[in-house]
Amino acid sequence: MNQETAWETLYQQGNMGWDRGEVSPALTHWLASGLHKNQRILIPSCGRGHEVLELARLGFDVTALDIAPTAIKALNRALTENDLHANVMCGDLFHYEPEQAFDAIYEQTCLCAIAPDQRQAYANKLYHWL
Ligand SMILES: C[S@@+](CC[C@H](N)C(=O)[O-])C[C@H]1O[C@@H](n2cnc3c(N)ncnc32)[C@H](O)[C@@H]1O
Repeated sequence: MNQETAWETLYQQGNMGWDRGEVSPALTHWLASGLHKNQRILIPSCGRGHEVLELARLGFDVTALDIAPTAIKALNRALTENDLHANVMCGDLFHYEPEQAFDAIYEQTCLCAIAPDQRQAYANKLYHWL
């Protein structure tokens, strides 16, 4: 089973032990710190995107990407239901080439979802996207 199918299957089965069903406390903490401004921000491997919704609600220019179509469908549905906007894409982050750099990247459990021998390539991508 390839990576896309493996993640997609987990979402289809509702087998998502990592998904809190709400915004991560780490993001809430960062937002409360006042260190941010309304930036152009990327969330790679956003999953169902609770953080995407929160940042969009606060006026950030959010781009989000995930390889699993079911997760992206759920996120798009939630954006529509909440009358919010974000640039949401379904695809493999290793093929993602934005037209413009980002001010910030919110990394949440993407690194650990990547095979160890791909992690340096992922880190290189993060630097390249900023
Ligand atoms: C542990 S989950 C975390 C999802 C989300 N960040 C969260 O905290 O709910 C890892 C995510 O990485 C996505 N993913 C894995 N490999 C990917 C890749 N090469 N490109 C894009 N997304 C990928 C999976 O589909 C899954 O949604």
